Amino acid sequence: MRPFNLGRKTLILAAATLLLTSCERAKDDSTPPELNKMPVAQLRAMLKGFDGDCRPDSDKEHGVPPPPAGKPVPSDAQRISLVPPEKFHAGDMDVQKAIASRRSVRAFSQDPITLGELSFLLWATQGVTAEIAGDETHEPMRLRAAPSAGGRYPLETYIAIRAVEGIDQGIYRYLPNTHQLHLVRRDSDISAGLQKACYGTPFVADAAAVLIWSAIPYRTEWKYTYTSHRMIAMEAGHVCQNLYLAATSAGLGACALCSYHQSSVDGLIGVDGQNEFAIYLACVGRPSEGKK
Ligand SMILES: Cc1cc2nc3c(=O)[nH]c(=O)nc-3n(C[C@H](O)[C@H](O)[C@H](O)COP(=O)(O)O)c2cc1C
Repeated sequence: MRPFNLGRKTLILAAATLLLTSCERAKDDSTPPELNKMPVAQLRAMLKGFDGDCRPDSDKEHGVPPPPAGKPVPSDAQRISLVPPEKFHAGDMDVQKAIASRRSVRAFSQDPITLGELSFLLWATQGVTAEIAGDETHEPMRLRAAPSAGGRYPLETYIAIRAVEGIDQGIYRYLPNTHQLHLVRRDSDISAGLQKACYGTPFVADAAAVLIWSAIPYRTEWKYTYTSHRMIAMEAGHVCQNLYLAATSAGLGACALCSYHQSSVDGLIGVDGQNEFAIYLACVGRPSEGKK
């Protein structure tokens, strides 16, 4: 995978942040050493915009072909068709009520969720909701439930399944274009493994499923270079909010999770940690009565 071109503005920004903040360091001892050594201004710079248009510096503008829109699926991988949107029975809660009643749920019953419920949650977060026809030179453009800068869709969705009716425990990946799951690997110990990777967070082991969103940054970097990383973080937020609202409207519970050991989660979903890495997790399941 080709790194995007480092533009003049990147170098100026890097030099400026180093000069301004050479003595200022991130102070949280719990962060990994390499982040701990980064100047705070450099960490904050990821959140900020730029006084200029990054696009002329992009690989796209330099004529580099776009990276593949999706990851390949091994030819022998088991695929599971999900319930299509026209067959969802997702409740009839209106958006206002879903927004007003959404809460982070941290206590789940041991009961499984149905494949239909999981299908609804995946569609609501990353499902294809519209298609713009292609032509001889352009692939059709598939638009999804959550917005994505430039339609680059840098996120992949992995699902650690503990209790979904009819589905073996293990790690799966969502295929938005065909609305399918593909089995990454069976693992009857996935809940325990993930709970450990989430520093023992108790409700992780009780969730029926944990959605793990990874980023493939170059999909966005190809077009937006050094402004991509804030966009990708924003997009993960859009997706997770859709999950919260969909879960709430379907009578399920969800809780976002940022507290996880990066390389352990990357290892569980089988990604390299460089060109693709986990950026956000969320537990889903049936809320357990009485506890919050
Ligand atoms: C980016 C992000 C990361 C979060 N990480 C965790 C987490 O690791 N563990 C947890 O229990 N809750 C986590 N939460 C949930 C928040 O604690 C929760 O949204 C907040 O307490 C407000 O409660 P509410 O969602 O019920 O309104 C996270 C929320 C966000 C937006």
